[in-house]
Amino acid sequence: MKRLYNLILACLFMVSLSACGKQAGTDSSTDQVMEQQGQTESAGTTEQTEQEQPAVSEAEQTEAQTEDILTDREEQKIEGGDNTVTGDISFNFETKTVLLNSGYEMPIFGIGTYSLTGDTCVESVTAALNSGVRLIDTAYMYHNEESVGEAVRNSGIPREEIFVITKLYPNQFSDAEAAIEEALVKLDIDYIDMMLLHHPGTDDVEAYLAMEKAVADGKIRSLGLSNWYVEELEEFIPQINIMPALVQNEIHPYYQENDVIPYIHGLGIVVQGWYPLGGRGYTAELLGNEVISEIAAAHGKSSAQVILRWNLQKGVVVIPGSSNPDHIQENTELFDFELTREEMERINALDRREKHDWY
Ligand SMILES: NC(=O)c1ccc[n+]([C@@H]2O[C@H](COP(=O)([O-])OP(=O)(O)OC[C@H]3O[C@@H](n4cnc5c(N)ncnc54)[C@H](OP(=O)(O)O)[C@@H]3O)[C@@H](O)[C@H]2O)c1
Repeated sequence: MKRLYNLILACLFMVSLSACGKQAGTDSSTDQVMEQQGQTESAGTTEQTEQEQPAVSEAEQTEAQTEDILTDREEQKIEGGDNTVTGDISFNFETKTVLLNSGYEMPIFGIGTYSLTGDTCVESVTAALNSGVRLIDTAYMYHNEESVGEAVRNSGIPREEIFVITKLYPNQFSDAEAAIEEALVKLDIDYIDMMLLHHPGTDDVEAYLAMEKAVADGKIRSLGLSNWYVEELEEFIPQINIMPALVQNEIHPYYQENDVIPYIHGLGIVVQGWYPLGGRGYTAELLGNEVISEIAAAHGKSSAQVILRWNLQKGVVVIPGSSNPDHIQENTELFDFELTREEMERINALDRREKHDWY
């Protein structure tokens, strides 16, 4: 009888253990879900923890947060599979840089080199570097990657301090791997800070995937697109693994892209404007615009500086093109004045949706 009683007790114990095991299993899978949710909501969680530790200074908190973001981005770079990471792409007007979603910092003003070739290009880029410019925009199609590379190498400025963007043209997309190698050879500056696809075109997804491979191989650091608008981005992004860090589109007071910029920013992508001064053939009209000239006079600045500053305050990186050292210097002096809200609105009101090129 006693043996039967013990047997019943043992059975009851086993049943209860098995129920506990099931319960534990349920909890652990709940934990996994929580953990996954925690990953997407990690910003909020981090904030809470930090609020409970007032001993940590604000600077330390920011540093820690930046490190967290960088770690996430580092993982993104290694995995190459998570294109959902978005960060804070607001401009730092102290350092004059923006932190890209790739984890790299990029200056918010630079020089564009379209139509500058040979010695003119070398001299213009050299003048820009001497004026403190650290961002240079070139492209296969500008036929000046060698000249840009030459100016960078001869500058004596540490390579890490200069950010060079180049682009693949659609006629290179079908053999992008070879085109990337060609750009590396022409530039001859160890690595490319950022490579863009110049325009949408046949095989653009394949070309982007080839650029992703070059990122994994350490040949390119960040990726981006040029002349991609809302529809094109909606279609393109689901087909790639690494979220573009930058989109470079036509932006100036007569073509403002006010519908496109917030969309791109919303994806955690930095926006860069080409033809910031309207582009060659259009600059006189834009620089002579009455509203812009009036605002420039009020600040004791030039019309070009006001337009470039308007871009920066809208969160648009500027790359004005110039071969004139005085203009190049002038285009760097954008941080000793600020446009008021009213002045920004007056320039916003100049939008004519007037494109100055076909793409
Ligand atoms: N992704 C694309 O499809 C695409 C398309 C076009 C351009 N881009 C890029 O965007 C860059 C900028 O465009 P852009 O160079 O064609 O046009 P831009 O910057 O709008 O205008 C360049 C013109 O402005 C003049 N300029 C520059 N600074 C000035 C100043 N402070 N005062 C008066 N005039 C000034 C230049 O003349 P001076 O030489 O006399 O200074 C030049 O004629 C290009 O260089 C290129 O890198 C990209």
